[in-house]
Amino acid sequence: MSTSRILSPLDRLLDSAQNALSTVAGRPRAERANPGESTPEVVLDEAERRHAAGLMRINHVGEVCAQALYIGQAAVARDPATREQLLAAAQEETDHLAWCADRLRELDSRPSLLNPLWYAGSYAIGALAGLRGDGWNLGFVVETERQVEAHLQEHLQTLPEADGRSRAILRTMKDDEARHAEHAEAAGAKILPQPIPRVMALASKLMKSVAYRV
Ligand SMILES: [Fe+2]
Ligand SMILES: [Fe+2]
Repeated sequence: MSTSRILSPLDRLLDSAQNALSTVAGRPRAERANPGESTPEVVLDEAERRHAAGLMRINHVGEVCAQALYIGQAAVARDPATREQLLAAAQEETDHLAWCADRLRELDSRPSLLNPLWYAGSYAIGALAGLRGDGWNLGFVVETERQVEAHLQEHLQTLPEADGRSRAILRTMKDDEARHAEHAEAAGAKILPQPIPRVMALASKLMKSVAYRV
């Protein structure tokens, strides 16, 4: 009997369901240490704490969406190598997800209540992009990672100056996202035509303004 694993549609669905549950309801575990760990905690005033928590909640939602996008794309990817690359990217995003969740707890806050909704929407977008073919899949990865990288840069500028722990996490995430984009480019990503990048930017703007509060 062959040892290579041919995944049936049911296997793929079960993989996706498992990821959705652990992302939205579980407590995903990072493989790398939290980059903020060695930075001393400072007491933030109430306004700063709330602002930092709002920004970290947005980043946590971003990582929920990244999981869902990559798992959705992997579920429909035709080429096993592309599928593997997408699953590997999702694994690295799990570190980001766990670090953001840690920081939200430290800031005495919580993840977005709408996470099941963000996950479902991103999964659907990922699967739709994936159905168009593997070059598109990777093009989507590049566009997503570039947009996330830009918004992390923005958050690094607007986080309270004293919040070194959140900053350390975001700096590492930003470097990781840039590398994810470069890998996808090297693997043959197609450049997404307008209006797709514009629509993605609009959707993420909406997500950010909701997730800051809810
Ligand atoms: Fe990430
Ligand atoms: Fe990424």
